[in-house]
Parts: sequence; structure tokens; C-alpha cells
Amino acid sequence: MNSSSEWHAAVNAIVPEVHPIDRDAIRIWFALWPLLAREVLAARPDREKMVTFFQMNGQFDLAPLADTSHIFLYGHRYWVPIKAALQPELEGDLLTRIRTTAETSDAPLEFALAMSAIAWMTLEQCGPAFLPVVYEPKVPMEEPETFLRRRATHFRPSLVERFKGRAPSERIIFHENDEEAWFPIIPTQEITTAAELDKRAFHTKDKRCYEAMGPIPVDCRAGSCGTCWVGILGGNENLDPVEAFERGRMEYFGYWDSGFVDTDCDRPLIRLACQTKANSSVSIVIPAWNGVYGKSRREKELPD
Ligand code: FES
Repeated sequence: MNSSSEWHAAVNAIVPEVHPIDRDAIRIWFALWPLLAREVLAARPDREKMVTFFQMNGQFDLAPLADTSHIFLYGHRYWVPIKAALQPELEGDLLTRIRTTAETSDAPLEFALAMSAIAWMTLEQCGPAFLPVVYEPKVPMEEPETFLRRRATHFRPSLVERFKGRAPSERIIFHENDEEAWFPIIPTQEITTAAELDKRAFHTKDKRCYEAMGPIPVDCRAGSCGTCWVGILGGNENLDPVEAFERGRMEYFGYWDSGFVDTDCDRPLIRLACQTKANSSVSIVIPAWNGVYGKSRREKELPD
């Protein structure tokens, strides 16, 4: 087991060498899958009691998502060679192991480093069972620069789409690999307010979503539940800054406690969608789970 500080040091060391398209994405992935959340669930023998106390909901176990949790990184395209190169018995410190796996894979280093770090964290949280699983990423093989240029852009309908009545709009993109995974937003709207106008059947894919209530799970829309946390993949500059209320709630929920995102700035990479106003197009990541495991909650149940 590697400590959280070893993980921070290793990720910070590789980020400058990661392709710009994945620099924020790798920090978001590590914030969405923190060792801390796993540790609080394992802190007492009665895991179910911990799940209830920390209000864990959705797919908070990484193992079933070992091959797909990182689909929002461009480097996901190289997951297969990274898995093939990962040797669980490899010795050395964490950074050396991450580098060795990246360098011995057939993937370009600027993508391989991030995916190797994710693979080693997945190994730490899930064990080696995911390594022999056959998986083929189903994502467009576009150049990263093309992909990056499209990030957080407005919707511009084709001539045919305009003829059918589709109008240009600013939007929230919530799955960059799926051309239809976006909803329009009116500038200054909260992200969840815009999301709720999307009436597609997201509840069939994520049990936390209510029918006809959009793709982002919500339980309160008032900053009380922590269900609506999201990662900001692109267009962060188009969001209103964090206000004191949202800052306090993020500390209570524990979403900023991973240490992988800068929380002192005005626009951290992890936000509460019901408290965040967008002034233009943004690209987000919707986590597979939510919980309430901030320091005050941890100290209540796990004082030592
Ligand atoms: S929906 Fe409850 S905190 Fe945002």
C-alpha cells in the first residue's frame, strides 16, 4: 500500500509530462477515486454500517469500473497496452513503477504516464483481477488536438439539423466521446437547473437519477446532499467562482479532501453542480457515486 502523500508526489511529478488534454483530467480522476473514501469504508468491520453512515450512494467500488472509470481521459485509448505492461510484482518506489510501466508500454509517453498512474491506483484499490479482463475502448481515434479544440464548445447545428429546427446554443457536455451527451444552458443558469430540462431516460443508466430529471443526480438542489458533485474538464473559466457556502459544503462532503485538486483557487476542478452557474459552454465529468465523508463526519465515527 502506498500512502496518500506518496500518490500526491507521484502524480505531481508526472503531470508536467502529461499531454495538456489530460492534465486536469488525471487530477479529476484521482479526486473521483480517492484512497480516503475507500479507507473510511474499511475502517470498521461492519462495512454496511460505514456505507450508511457516510451516505455512500451509486457505484463507489472501483472494481466493476476498472476498465471504464477513466473514459474521459484521452489516454483511455491506450488502456489495453498499459494493462499489458503493468507487472504487479514490479519493485521500486511508486513513481519508478509508474514510469517503468509507461515506458515499456506501446503507448505514447505523454498519455501512458497518466494511464499508468491510474492503472497502479486501480491495482491498489481492486487487486489484479482486472488485468486479464478483455476490454476494447470504444472511443473515436481523433488527434488529441482535434479533440481538445472541441472541448467545452457551443453546439453548432449542421444545415440539415437547422432545417429540422435545432438551434445553436451554449451547452454542458457531460461525455465527450458521445456526440449527443450534452444539454443546452442559458448563461448564468446553475448547471443542474439546465440539466433538469433534459428529459432523456438517464435513470435507466444511473439509479441515482430520477426519471425526466436530467443526467446529473440531484437530491436537494440546495447544497445539502452532495449528490450533484462534478469534475470540470473544460471551460472552467466560464463558471462563476466558488462562494463561501459552496466552499463550506465541499469541505463537509469531503470531495476536496483527496488533495489532488487545488481548492484555494476561485474555480477548483471539483464543484457542486447545483451551486455552480455557467456563463458559457463547459465540459464536465459526472462521478459514478456520491457520499458525505468530510473531516467532521470522519471524526464523529472514526475519532482515532
Ligand atoms: S443537489 Fe444536493 S447538493 Fe446539489
